[in-house]
Amino acid sequence: MRKPKTSSKDRKILCIGAGYVGGPTMAVIAAKCPEYTVRVVDIDKGRIDAWNSKNLPIYEPGLDGLVEKARGRNLFFSTDVKKAIDESGIIFVSVNTPTKTFGEGAGMAADLQYWEKTARAIVECSHDDKIVIEKSTLPVRTAEAMHRILQSNNKGLNFDIISNPEFLAEGTAVRDLENPDRVLVGSMASRSGKAAAAKIADIYAHWVPREKILLTNVWSSELSKLVSNAMLAQRISSINSVSALCEKTDADIDEVAKAVGMDSRIGPKFLKAGVGFGGSCFKKDILNLVYLCRFYGLEEVAQYWSKVVEINEYQERRFVLNMIRSMFNTVAGKKIALLGFAFKADTGDTREAPAIYIARKLVEEHAEVSIYDPKAMENAKSDLKDIAGRINFARNHIECVKNTHAVAILTEWREFTTYDYRRIFDSMEKPAFIFDGRNILDRNALFKIGFNVHSIGKSPMRNI
Ligand SMILES: NC(=O)c1ccc[n+]([C@@H]2O[C@H](COP(=O)([O-])OP(=O)(O)OC[C@H]3O[C@@H](n4cnc5c(N)ncnc54)[C@H](O)[C@@H]3O)[C@@H](O)[C@H]2O)c1
Repeated sequence: MRKPKTSSKDRKILCIGAGYVGGPTMAVIAAKCPEYTVRVVDIDKGRIDAWNSKNLPIYEPGLDGLVEKARGRNLFFSTDVKKAIDESGIIFVSVNTPTKTFGEGAGMAADLQYWEKTARAIVECSHDDKIVIEKSTLPVRTAEAMHRILQSNNKGLNFDIISNPEFLAEGTAVRDLENPDRVLVGSMASRSGKAAAAKIADIYAHWVPREKILLTNVWSSELSKLVSNAMLAQRISSINSVSALCEKTDADIDEVAKAVGMDSRIGPKFLKAGVGFGGSCFKKDILNLVYLCRFYGLEEVAQYWSKVVEINEYQERRFVLNMIRSMFNTVAGKKIALLGFAFKADTGDTREAPAIYIARKLVEEHAEVSIYDPKAMENAKSDLKDIAGRINFARNHIECVKNTHAVAILTEWREFTTYDYRRIFDSMEKPAFIFDGRNILDRNALFKIGFNVHSIGKSPMRNI
């Protein structure tokens, strides 16, 4: 058995992939571990240029200050992937793992081409042993394939694979990284695998209590990430499915969620009904789980999890259908303001945002759609570029709502709760409708102003 070696490069960390995970995670490691040098590389030059500028490529509360402090000290961003691989002993891989759009498993399985290219680049550029860490979310048993690719080198090098999935949520990434519920470090059973896991655990132990750092086998770690996302999404689909029943029975979804969530076995988090979940992870990770279950012949389990995605799509469809039905069965020629486009508050990320489907559906119904989001306008323009001529991308909420027949809240931005809704009402066509897709507004106050108010999982309040 090979003896684990201590290398001079053990304090040199590299992260391949400077995205929503790689950037913030490495910024926190650099801030907490000043004796380590942390490099972040990406093939996307625009992204790296942005990481090296005042305008970071992603918006996250608290991130600007963190990066500013560490950048140039022990945190570096570059496009020189090959050199950085050679110079580092610990390599996190945080490239994208989207759903496959072609061939076997299209629409379900994870597309691992970026991961595999990275593994091959590591083999090509390495001249000594390294620890390679799966930070990306990957199907269970990916580490096996990676191990085979990495060990296929003819230089006599050893690569230890660690699974260290990331549990941060966009919008609270820095807070989540600084105070994680747990850190998972999965390794192979070999002596060098265990030694590698200990080195990674030591990095986190700079700021995370040891009892929150879980050492597991590599397969449990890979699967735990998929299951965590599947269970979070399942709670949202569960409460959203109940919201449909509330609308039929005059029950109020917020009252039901509160009563249910006060049961300590259930807990109150992730029980907020809304227009559906978005984001780059939930749907892709559940589909990946479904694909894996099918691969292993577990059809019933696959069907169970695929319903979570189906209910989410149903909730988005239901929202638009409710808008059309409430507005006298047609939105053709009517102006509709969408407030919010990001998939959640405090991020500019719009990947899989329900707003994309809703905007497209309304345009298909010949509505004149106007959009305003505090941080996601550039992404919204890019998501809708094929129909951009039929959409008004507003500079502020006043311009967005002017002369509209309806306003729909699609993201739970706090600023939306602070607007002057009397003024908004006065600037709108009558009857004026509000569809609160996040249940964040004071519906009684809106009703008093004169709005017809439609919330999720509550009876509508109609003035006219
Ligand atoms: N976004 C989240 O909230 C989140 C949370 C937890 C886990 N994850 C997982 O983390 C992984 C990364 O997610 P993300 O949101 O940061 O993705 P992202 O698309 O924002 O970033 C990935 C980056 O990897 C780069 N890249 C791709 N191939 C490369 C290569 N060969 N060499 C160098 N760079 C390369 C891309 O250019 C891109 O900038 C995914 O597997 C995702 O499922 C994401």
